[in-house]
Amino acid sequence: MSKLENIVSLCKRRGFIFPGSDVYGGMAGTWDYGPLGTILKRNMMDAWWNYWVDQRDDMYGVDAAIIMNPQVWEASGHVATFADPLVECKECHGRFRADKLVDGATESITTEAFLKADVKCPTCGKKNWGEIRKFNMMFKTHVGPIDDDSSIAYLRPETAQGIFTNFKNVVDTIYPDMPFGIAQQGKAFRNEISPRDFILRDRECSQMEIEYFVKPDDWERAFEELRAGQHDFLENVIGLPASAIHELDVPEADRAHYSKRTIDFMFDYPNGEEELMGLAYRTDFDLSNIQRASGKNMEYRDKVTGETFVPHVIEPSIGVERLFLAILSNAYTEEEDRIVLKLPSRLAPYKYCVSPLLKNKPELVERAKEVYEILKKKYTFVTWDDSGNIGKRYKKQDEIGTPKCVVVDFEGLEDGTVTVRDRDTTEQVRVKVEEL
Ligand code: GAP
Repeated sequence: MSKLENIVSLCKRRGFIFPGSDVYGGMAGTWDYGPLGTILKRNMMDAWWNYWVDQRDDMYGVDAAIIMNPQVWEASGHVATFADPLVECKECHGRFRADKLVDGATESITTEAFLKADVKCPTCGKKNWGEIRKFNMMFKTHVGPIDDDSSIAYLRPETAQGIFTNFKNVVDTIYPDMPFGIAQQGKAFRNEISPRDFILRDRECSQMEIEYFVKPDDWERAFEELRAGQHDFLENVIGLPASAIHELDVPEADRAHYSKRTIDFMFDYPNGEEELMGLAYRTDFDLSNIQRASGKNMEYRDKVTGETFVPHVIEPSIGVERLFLAILSNAYTEEEDRIVLKLPSRLAPYKYCVSPLLKNKPELVERAKEVYEILKKKYTFVTWDDSGNIGKRYKKQDEIGTPKCVVVDFEGLEDGTVTVRDRDTTEQVRVKVEEL
């Protein structure tokens, strides 16, 4: 099995991630987080929020509705341009993303270039292709009891618009100094033609985005500040190796319709290098479009000079699933006799696992329960395990990434100590419970 397949298998076996609607045979492009995945995901999202919002004086949060007025997506350009190149095999009628069938191709691939690449249909092996057409990726729905064109709404394809549409509300209530950012975490939906690579490309995903509002002539400085911040966050907070992160300065032809500059942060995933996140200079594209479409003034008045202007925007945008998979790929380690998830302690679902050495010795169980309660109160993320033998417990805790296993044995009953086994080195030390 490939490394990715092994990760998928571990995720299901240990309760991190299950296929969406698993009991009915799944639903392509959707995934459900299990008990451990939920904690890891929450720890990761909290780490992001703590770093980018709580620890800064220039960031504010919003939590906007997923279903928005459809005018949002007209003004943002998504109705007109949020589309992928779709190609259909005329033999078996399989539909594919054309750029994903040709090595090195981008989303702007033409029918001519596609046909020249002479690719076979991945399903039937024939080479009888139709024209490439643009396929809009927004999910449409109807709002209210009338099911016609007047009730069309979209599930948001990016969280960003929930920020832009609240720009004026935040300015009028918080009066932030310029520059400042508005952050949001939440679901986004894309009707991907070919969801793939486990949670890397989904139809329902979550994003963590910041729109950072600046004076027009300050954008380059802010871009560089946020660019350095991404490395600091990914490498020093999340613990991804710098050597696995590569910046890609996206050429104009491949940039989103709103961007004047984009750097994609690529990561070495098990199946190759893929986009982990993007950093884009969105200019005043969104606020100016909102101003035009809504008739509401989106200008900011400088508190000192009184100067008014429509702010420009730098946008760091990272997918929760992509970061989750980067963390798992980096942590997943196969050693001679075990599989270990070497997760950073702040992300691991459990910091400690507490066990009695033997399950059938009431005095050991009683003391271990006391130790468990002490640690649970102190660290919250603590688990209890008295199943099987101690070797099996270590194996399970290694696979779910628990950094420390605490065991109460007979010696500990005498002197108030426990043994603590380190996940990564497997070394054991004896310490007093108060020292944990
Ligand atoms: N607001 C800007 C924006 O949405 P994007 O490059 O389309 O830009 C930003 O998406 C990030 O969201 C990507 O870098 C990726 O991490 C994540 N993402 C986008 N589409 C995704 C999908 N189908 N599945 C999982 N993550 C996705």
